[in-house]
Amino acid sequence: MKINPGDLDYRDVYRLFMSAVVPRPIALISTIGENGVFNLAPFSGFSTMGLRPSLVHVNIGRNRDGQKKDTLVNIEFSKDFVVNVVNEDMGEAMNQSAAEYPSDVDEFKEVGLTPVKADMVKSPMVAESPISMECKLRQILEFGEFPDSNNVVLGDGISERGERGQPFCIKEIFQDISHFRRGL
Ligand SMILES: Cc1cc2nc3c(=O)[nH]c(=O)nc-3n(C[C@H](O)[C@H](O)[C@H](O)COP(=O)(O)O)c2cc1C
Repeated sequence: MKINPGDLDYRDVYRLFMSAVVPRPIALISTIGENGVFNLAPFSGFSTMGLRPSLVHVNIGRNRDGQKKDTLVNIEFSKDFVVNVVNEDMGEAMNQSAAEYPSDVDEFKEVGLTPVKADMVKSPMVAESPISMECKLRQILEFGEFPDSNNVVLGDGISERGERGQPFCIKEIFQDISHFRRGL
């Protein structure tokens, strides 16, 4: 079967692309807003890219109303973010953090996770995460047209805290695309 993504509607392109690259690990991204409020949200459209420089990329779509997600707004403000790997114990909190909370709500408090001061960035780390990578914003790219536009955020991974060399002990969890909860 041959499929041209350009012929599909948004939801079907989502299903096609999400099921083409699996398993999909989840980055719980923590940020701080201009109002000083901490934010959390899961993103499976992320990966590391190269070693020198040590780049991380995250793909951030728009909210249903076409507005920017709080994660993007916060990264534009603070010029940094933290990628926290999600393990089994954090699964429920990660899922809750995907809800569209107002930007003045501290999502750490809402979902029951613990913020820890990072060493090199303003954004907080998640204490419960087995691996947290502090990232400094390098560039934000924009693709597509409003309201379907999406941004690719490139960050330099400048500090990592975690269980080094024991990847199979982390019990990392992956996005289950058959349990489609919300659009990108
Ligand atoms: C497992 C999972 C993976 C997700 N991956 C992405 C993603 O890669 N890109 C994206 O824009 N949204 C993704 N989302 C949706 C966002 O987490 C959601 O829109 C969230 O409300 C954004 O929060 P914010 O406004 O606080 O940034 C994902 C949600 C879940 C549950």
